[in-house]
Amino acid sequence: MSIDVEAKSRLELQVRAGERPAPVGIAVIGAGYWGPNLIRNARQSAATRLIAVVDRDRGRAERAAAPYAGVRAAADLADVLADPEIEAIAIATPASSHLVVALAAIEAGKHVLVEKPLAAGYAEGLTLVRAAAERGVVLMCDHTYCYTPAVQRIRRLLQDGDLGEIQFIDSVRVNLGLVQRDVDVFWDLAPHDLSILDHILPGGLRPLAVSAQGADPIGAGQTCVGYLTLHLPGGSIAHVQVNWLSPVKVRTITIGASKRTLVWDDLNPGQRLSLYDRGVDLTEPTDDVDDIEDVDRDADDRRQKIVSYRSGDMIAPALPEREALQGVMTEFADAIRTGRSPATDGWSGLRVLDILEAASRSLEFAGAVVPLRGVNR
Ligand SMILES: NC(=O)c1ccc[n+]([C@@H]2O[C@H](COP(=O)([O-])OP(=O)(O)OC[C@H]3O[C@@H](n4cnc5c(N)ncnc54)[C@H](O)[C@@H]3O)[C@@H](O)[C@H]2O)c1
Repeated sequence: MSIDVEAKSRLELQVRAGERPAPVGIAVIGAGYWGPNLIRNARQSAATRLIAVVDRDRGRAERAAAPYAGVRAAADLADVLADPEIEAIAIATPASSHLVVALAAIEAGKHVLVEKPLAAGYAEGLTLVRAAAERGVVLMCDHTYCYTPAVQRIRRLLQDGDLGEIQFIDSVRVNLGLVQRDVDVFWDLAPHDLSILDHILPGGLRPLAVSAQGADPIGAGQTCVGYLTLHLPGGSIAHVQVNWLSPVKVRTITIGASKRTLVWDDLNPGQRLSLYDRGVDLTEPTDDVDDIEDVDRDADDRRQKIVSYRSGDMIAPALPEREALQGVMTEFADAIRTGRSPATDGWSGLRVLDILEAASRSLEFAGAVVPLRGVNR
């Protein structure tokens, strides 16, 4: 996206004068399950001004807008695209409609926040990224978890090198979920895990290849249980487990690294993050081994000599509690006012789509290892 120099200098003048930048006029499209969360947060945020709610089901739009005085409801997207007070559109319609709705908004010169996944496929996502760049508008993907205090802390720990070299990542997102008709469990749940990994890993999530296994044991017509392996550069490995059929809800990410191991348990508000100074170290055998007479030990014995286990403290960093979608609204508005790219921009959405498409291809070929197309941003 080209930097909006005028907007940036206007903002700098406002900030220097101690003024808060004007809130961004916004409309939310889609008032089904998730839309009302965007609507509430757009209304509550000081960075945005909720002007309208659109749903092709007018009754739904009206019910969603009703609690908020002065917010109008509409059934037609064209209604808000023609309104100059509406600078930005937040889209919470199903992924199959993201391309059409977002493209219409971009072409009308509106900044766009799109729910995950960015689009129904890589080619569609790329069309959106290119269109936004050409039109000079912000394109942001709502990778909600990236705006939680826990994920932001994990990102800092990794960027500052506090965990050391990553050895493995294990992400589990299982529960009794709504079996979707149009997408499988990978496309429904894994965007969360993949976008979190893309956000926390220095340089983003750029696996060399993936392989996916899945099953549909209830005959739903969609993969309901999925296991995705990501082969990362440098020889480490990440695994993502997603499941709609698990009676027990689990939301954890474990990151094993050379200095410390981190466990994020999103369902444990008293201790979401745990940092373990525990792990396995490999040390070179010392020279004096050669001095021992009759050094005729087998390879296993030799390996035993150079493996050591660390068993230090565990600490649980304190984290503030705040709603991630407030962070999403602030980031979106700030990117618009300053002309910078948002933290979860279209490119990050595209990297997630690249991996999801490779996972789908792998599933078709019984878990074959599929190389990534690779997003050069
Ligand atoms: N960030 C998160 O944590 C999170 C959580 C759940 C869902 N989502 C995402 O939110 C999006 C919506 O999911 P949902 O579960 O709310 O879907 P939903 O089916 O419950 O609601 C979608 C709404 O969009 C409306 N709609 C569809 N096409 C439209 C169009 N062209 N114009 C206007 N309205 C239209 C429908 O009438 C419906 O009311 C999906 O992309 C999903 O992946 C994100």
